[in-house]
Formats: sequence, C-alpha cells, structure tokens
Amino acid sequence: MKKGVFIVLEGPDRSGKSTQAELLKSWLEKEHGRKVLLTREPGGTYLSEQIRKILLDPKSHIEPMTELFLYETARIKHTLERIIPALKAGKVIVSDRYTLSSTAYQGYGRGLDLKTVETLNRIATLDLKPDLTIVFDIPDKAFAQREKTRPGRDRIERASDAFRRRVNRAYKLLAKRPGVTRVDAGRSIEAIQDDIRARVARLLRKK
Ligand SMILES: Nc1ncnc2c1ncn2[C@@H]1O[C@H](COP(=O)(O)OP(=O)(O)OP(=O)(O)O)[C@@H](O)[C@H]1O
Ligand SMILES: [Mg+2]
Repeated sequence: MKKGVFIVLEGPDRSGKSTQAELLKSWLEKEHGRKVLLTREPGGTYLSEQIRKILLDPKSHIEPMTELFLYETARIKHTLERIIPALKAGKVIVSDRYTLSSTAYQGYGRGLDLKTVETLNRIATLDLKPDLTIVFDIPDKAFAQREKTRPGRDRIERASDAFRRRVNRAYKLLAKRPGVTRVDAGRSIEAIQDDIRARVARLLRKK
C-alpha cells in the first residue's frame, strides 16, 4: 500500500512544531518537487477538527480516559481519511502530532496505563507507523521565555506545571525509541529547520 513518506513532528506545546512544519512543507515542494500533505492532530478532517474544539475548550471538563478516547476517535478518522489516501497517492505527509502525543500526554502526563494508550494507538492507526518522528526537545529556560511573551490559553496549555513537566520528561524518553529522532528546539527557527531538513533528506535518500 505504501508509496508515500510519513513524517511526524512531536513535542510539548509551543515547542515550534507548526512553524517548522510549514517550512518543511515548502522545502519539500520547492527543492524535492514532492506533493505534500500538511496536517495535524487532533484535526485534519471535519469530524476530527470538531473533536479538537471540544478537547481544547477550557470550558470542557474531561476526565483522562474520556480525553484519551476523544483523541483516539479523532485519530481514527484522520488516519483513514487523510493519511492512508495520501500515502497511497505517493505524497509526503507532514503531521503535526500523532500517536506519541497520546503516550506523552494521556499516558505519562495524565497517568493512564501506558499499555492501554499504546493499544488504542495501534487500533486507531491500523498499526500504521511513521517513517520518521521528530521530537522537539525544548529546554525549560527557552520554554519559560516563550511562555512569558505568548502565554498559552487552551485547555491543555492551561494544565499545571507538574503536568507539563511530566509531558516534557516523557518526550525526552520517547525520543530514544527506534524511528524517533530528537531536535534541540531551543535554538533559532533556521537552525532547527536545517537539522530537520538534513534528517528528512537522509530519509528520502533511503526510500
Ligand atoms: N525557534 C524559535 N524560537 C523562538 N520562538 C519560536 C521558535 N519557533 C517558534 N516560535 C514561536 O513560538 C510560538 C509557538 O510556535 P508554534 O506555534 O510553531 O509551536 P507549536 O509546537 O506548533 O505549538 P502548539 O503545540 O501550541 O501548536 C509561536 O509564537 C512561534 O512564532
Ligand atoms: Mg502547533
């Protein structure tokens, strides 16, 4: 089935994923002549974007297991409707978040059983694994600086500092998994983009 390339950008809130995703897309189109699907989780389809609104609404009171199922529901639809067709069409998919987010946020962050999270991740994706996952590792100091100038306002961004620390620590661990690579996201936008391009170029040469 697989003809395309599936790249995922992961990391804590406001670590720079969306900024880098846009730059990566233009580079893949201009320098490599590739068709690119830039998409995001939760989201990317009408239903999944509706679920995203519920999840990010500060007025929503959502207990951890409900939160996990909402993310996974958005994920199934996104995988079936966007990712799989794009892969079949030979596109490069750049997804802003994927399964590692549930492991980091609902597993390590909310404290849900990791096996449960990973089982649901597999079900929701038909076990479709990215070719490369890039984890943005943002040093606490750089994060504090960004938080000061542009504080986050959605339900997840308003979670406690302890929650945020658990998520950040989780990403450091998850970055060591096979198929996952870490970038130092505390640097300039250009330096991070150069790193990402080098890793993606290597991947494209192998494919
Ligand atoms: N390397 C960087 N240095 C300083 N500021 C940055 C850098 N990259 C992005 N920013 C700024 O930090 C903020 C968060 O960036 P961005 O939206 O790309 O992060 P994100 O990881 O997609 O966040 P979210 O998880 O909330 O979607 C933006 O205002 C962006 O302009
Ligand atoms: Mg973003």
